[in-house]
Amino acid sequence: MAMRRPLIMGNWKMHGSLADNAVLLAGIRDGTARLRGQPELAVCVPFVYLAQAQMALADSVISWGAQDVSVHEKGAYTGEISGAMLADFGCRWVLCGHSERRALHGEGSALVAAKAAGALAAGLTPVVCVGETLSDREAGETECVVGDQLDPVLALGADALSRLVIAYEPVWAIGTGRSATPEQAQEVHALIRASLARHGASATRILYGGSVKPDNAAALFAQDDIDGALIGGASLQADSFLGIAAAVS
Ligand code: 13P
Repeated sequence: MAMRRPLIMGNWKMHGSLADNAVLLAGIRDGTARLRGQPELAVCVPFVYLAQAQMALADSVISWGAQDVSVHEKGAYTGEISGAMLADFGCRWVLCGHSERRALHGEGSALVAAKAAGALAAGLTPVVCVGETLSDREAGETECVVGDQLDPVLALGADALSRLVIAYEPVWAIGTGRSATPEQAQEVHALIRASLARHGASATRILYGGSVKPDNAAALFAQDDIDGALIGGASLQADSFLGIAAAVS
């Protein structure tokens, strides 16, 4: 993982309640004291629970963020949440272009890159998600698909690229219990790393996401270009989230 500080990030998706979150946030907080490595820890929670995360994590080492952001700064966009609003609630992070938003909400790569640029302007760190579907992979198009998703992000330039995070999340590995093998993940991470380097960004962190669990995390983190994890299901229990964090050596 070279000089890049490992980042362990939970994506709660549309899960949680005030009562359940209180238990989960307290559990994560309490557990960080026992972690020996020094990964950076973060949770991306539903918008309505940002205030709760802020209250629960304010004086902890754990940072928090949101799962999406409007591409617009402000205005007549009913139902949207701006980057400035997220910053108002102490967010450090925002996911941009998660595969569920690409697939279910029609977000294209140009929009995703524009959201990332807006998030940076609002003082947030975007975590831009890319990844191929199973049919893309079986057709041998992984590199091409991920490259196309990345292109408008690369066009933001070296300064932006040095301030954001990329998450490689193969769609076929998300929520399926079928993680990419460390070698499959590393292969794509190396391609992303090379693209970033060609655009002048050599220290950008690249997370892997897709069925990361405590028992497969160490092998993934042992790969040269895997700088941490974006975790769905296993981030909903303090024990498994912390178990993944503990796998960072
Ligand atoms: P799972 O860890 O549940 O496979 O989800 C991965 C993901 O989509 C994180 O953003």
